[in-house]
Amino acid sequence: MERLQKVIANSGYTSRRKAEALIQNGKVKVNGKTVYELGTKVSTGDMIEVDGNLLQKEEQKVYFLLYKPRGVVTTTQDDKNRKTVVDLIDTAVRIYPVGRLDYDTTGILLLTNDGQLANMLMHPKNNIDKVYIVKVNGLIGKEQIKRLQSGVVIEGRKTSKSQAKIKKYDKKTNTSIVELTIHEGRNHQVKKMFETLGYQVLKLKRERISFLTLSGLKSGAYRMLSPKEVKKLYNEVMQKKV
Ligand code: URA
Repeated sequence: MERLQKVIANSGYTSRRKAEALIQNGKVKVNGKTVYELGTKVSTGDMIEVDGNLLQKEEQKVYFLLYKPRGVVTTTQDDKNRKTVVDLIDTAVRIYPVGRLDYDTTGILLLTNDGQLANMLMHPKNNIDKVYIVKVNGLIGKEQIKRLQSGVVIEGRKTSKSQAKIKKYDKKTNTSIVELTIHEGRNHQVKKMFETLGYQVLKLKRERISFLTLSGLKSGAYRMLSPKEVKKLYNEVMQKKV
């Protein structure tokens, strides 16, 4: 028997916090009956509906590492019929992306049906490195790098500490390349961080998530994670929790 909000979160439907809100708002049914109690225990035989959707039963966990190209949306389905990251992967299993890269952002993206790992990777408290290579207009100075590192206010809330390094200046085109490592995954976070400083992001690529890189992959290609890598990822999120 497990707590209802945990089962919902582990299915990958949403985060634990949002699952709790759904329960409290009367959006969750167990065996056809609406439950409001957060502590409700359920077992594998129970039928759980969230917002009218039947929760998928556990299946074999799969993990893909995709080199996302530009011009693809990071969702499972797009209402404008654009190509999605899931369309790029040949699998019968229902997978979803871990976090989001914008339509015009390229780079490393994980896709899985392991809701537990996905939620842990996305939670800022687990301090998972997400490393971005950012091309911006203008020449970034040391002062701006310091501000990025200590956190900037976007949408009324300060970003947590990050690491930032200037990789290259191009005086001719008046652009800079910055390597930025963040641990959160707020909406359009990198672009907004630079916008706050008065810079426009011209190109954005995510190069690394924790120890995982794009090594050996071409844009648009993917591979499965090895069991060893999955274990290592679990170790990373567990370790950094405490
Ligand atoms: N930050 C952004 O602004 N966009 C992305 O795609 C990823 C992080």
